[in-house]
Amino acid sequence: MKKSVLLLFICWITVCFSFGQSPIIPSPVVYKIAVGKMSIANHFSINSENLPAEIKDFLVQKLVDTYSIQTVISASGSDLTFKKITNTPPDFYSITINDGVLIQYSTSASCFYAVNSLLQLIEGEKDSYYFSKAFVQDYPNFQWRGLHLDVSRHFFSVEEVKRFIDLMSLYKFNTFHWHLTDDQGWRIEIKKYPKLTEIGAWRDSTVNGHYSASPRTYSAERYGGFYTQEQIKEVVAYANKKFITVVPEIEMPGHSRAALAAYPQYSCTGKQLEVPGLWGVFEEIFCAKEESIDFLKDVLTEVLTLFPSEYIHIGGDEAPKTRWNTCPRCQKVIRENGLKDEHELQSYFIQEIDEFLTSKGRKLIGWDEILEGGLSPNAAVMSWRGFEGGIEAAKQKHFAVMSPGSHCYFDHYQSKNPNEPTAIGGFTPIEKVYAFNPIPPGFSEQQAFFILGGQANLWTEYIPTMTQLEYMTYPRALALAQVLWCKQKPPFEAFKKSFVDYHLTYLKRYNVNYSNALFYSQLTIFKNKNGLKLNFKGASKEDAFQLETRTNEKNSQFSENSYITENDTILLKRSKDNQIHTFNFKLTSKNSPDPAHFELKIHPAIGLPIELITKPAEQYKGDGALTLVDGVIGVTPWKGNEWLGYDTTQIEFIVDLTRKVKIEEILLNFLQDDGSWIHSPESIQISVSTKKKKWRNLQIQQFIASQSANAKKAGMKNAFEQNINLKGRFVKVKVNCLKYIPDGYAGEGKTPWTFTDELILLYKE
Ligand code: ACM
Ligand code: ZN
Repeated sequence: MKKSVLLLFICWITVCFSFGQSPIIPSPVVYKIAVGKMSIANHFSINSENLPAEIKDFLVQKLVDTYSIQTVISASGSDLTFKKITNTPPDFYSITINDGVLIQYSTSASCFYAVNSLLQLIEGEKDSYYFSKAFVQDYPNFQWRGLHLDVSRHFFSVEEVKRFIDLMSLYKFNTFHWHLTDDQGWRIEIKKYPKLTEIGAWRDSTVNGHYSASPRTYSAERYGGFYTQEQIKEVVAYANKKFITVVPEIEMPGHSRAALAAYPQYSCTGKQLEVPGLWGVFEEIFCAKEESIDFLKDVLTEVLTLFPSEYIHIGGDEAPKTRWNTCPRCQKVIRENGLKDEHELQSYFIQEIDEFLTSKGRKLIGWDEILEGGLSPNAAVMSWRGFEGGIEAAKQKHFAVMSPGSHCYFDHYQSKNPNEPTAIGGFTPIEKVYAFNPIPPGFSEQQAFFILGGQANLWTEYIPTMTQLEYMTYPRALALAQVLWCKQKPPFEAFKKSFVDYHLTYLKRYNVNYSNALFYSQLTIFKNKNGLKLNFKGASKEDAFQLETRTNEKNSQFSENSYITENDTILLKRSKDNQIHTFNFKLTSKNSPDPAHFELKIHPAIGLPIELITKPAEQYKGDGALTLVDGVIGVTPWKGNEWLGYDTTQIEFIVDLTRKVKIEEILLNFLQDDGSWIHSPESIQISVSTKKKKWRNLQIQQFIASQSANAKKAGMKNAFEQNINLKGRFVKVKVNCLKYIPDGYAGEGKTPWTFTDELILLYKE
């Protein structure tokens, strides 16, 4: 198998091609260039021999519609010829551009990939397009290269879904995970149960802004939609032509409020509830009784007629067990089947569905919660709460798709720019996506065999439109395409150069509303013994900044509208007046289309040395101790980096005020975002010392969010505040975190996350 590939490669070395920067994303295994061009005049002759019909239509349409290149298709065309080859790695293709183009491919899919690569090689302008002479050899690394789309929280029309698929296919994704049902809307017609779409597809209101905002407000508009079975078939056929498998997801037993609004008899209580207009996790889930499982088997029976995919996704995530705990029918199933608890009941539920799907020749895949209570014999796992679920599945010799929130949740923020449109929270910049590796470190080849690939998820609570969907997906999807396609991806800087040199134009050709986050000017904050040093950096060497300050502070430490060049620094001194000051910046740079806005709080503790006795979690460690005193107040919704995140039961750190002073007050802000399993702590204990030998311990205080003027001035919405009034040099802070997530919340019973930022101490000499 390897021999024939090698042979091709040697042939081309003799024709003097040399390695070059690949314009193709995802980067091919081999990309070589030679001197010279092949002009693509207005008439491009394509030899139809060995060219599959649907790929011919795709290629011609792209050349004509996107480039206005007229094509002639015949059995003797010579500008572009195709040859089918065997004995290659799966989905192998090569492209040779000399005086004509030769595409060699092993499968129809790889012929399609080759054509997409070829389109990315078109250079020049209208009427003078050309190819640089080049040689490409390529095949994918992972077999599951997925993007997911939630059409429940917001609905996307058939045309929009088709466009999502179109754009995916440009970057060689091959799996479209269609999240068709959830609490806020059931989107697939099921003929046996018409109320699923008559009732379940519509909600009467939708929460405004971020759902963690207080007070919540709602827009009282009826919202919804669904796909008829004919439309579903149309989308599946459309995707098939682009060599994309559509994997449907029907959520169970949780995230089922829309279904239960239509058929409340399949819940535990039978209570009639509406389709909710609020995001989050709900206690009402499918009952584990036989009638509910039979109902879901009926639904799946129709689903199977529409989707030929090998895998069927059954959800399985975030199913609170509150109803099951007290439901006589659920408890009866537990007793009769000798189950230990409600987790084993969930496992029993999934196993019933697994047996059903297996009997129909399909495979079940579910979110990693399906591991709890025991993994069903044939199930594959989609790992979203980190890598652990995928690791556990592979160790049990089950297949897994890696889709960890840390790297693959494209509903997270992608830049620190406060202008970013509201997102669910979290921080997943493109660099982080690029650093993703679906194979966990230390995995053997045998274990790696069970990792099918990876996938990014587009949950749409805060993605109401196609424009916003494209903004959140691109260019991060290009980074993910690299991760999933390339066995050895080039360094990030090389990828970025290909993106800037070629793909900005390419995405513009397709009118993609991509994010410019990569080109935003950046502010980096360093610690200085007197306060903070701010460093400004542009996306390119030529960048310069117009620093506009908006502050009503007297005696500003720097002048307004200063002109800053790259690598200039500004020193912001610790405030000596025992007050909290607000500074607003607007950074405009030549290459950044959007100005970046920042707000800093200058307070008496900025830049102070802090010893973190408890270390934050690796993925939420921000800039370490500096994060606590960098003047950037952690915001809601959280973006990740401005907070320190802990999954421990206690957090301890010591602040060094550098000399003995009269410590008056402490303010320490916490994040409350229960949808992300992040909860305020239980209590806090403050201790003061002069030499760190003897400590004076203040009484433990229960956490209550402060409403004080200082908390407001600091912009802290959920701050612990305590008067200290003691002399000393060191302040020890001991935070007792909430031990378990309370019942009824997402992740109930699990250890919650505790996120903290920022720390303010008020003190006098
Ligand atoms: C998930 O994000 N609840 C799978
Ligand atoms: Zn029940």
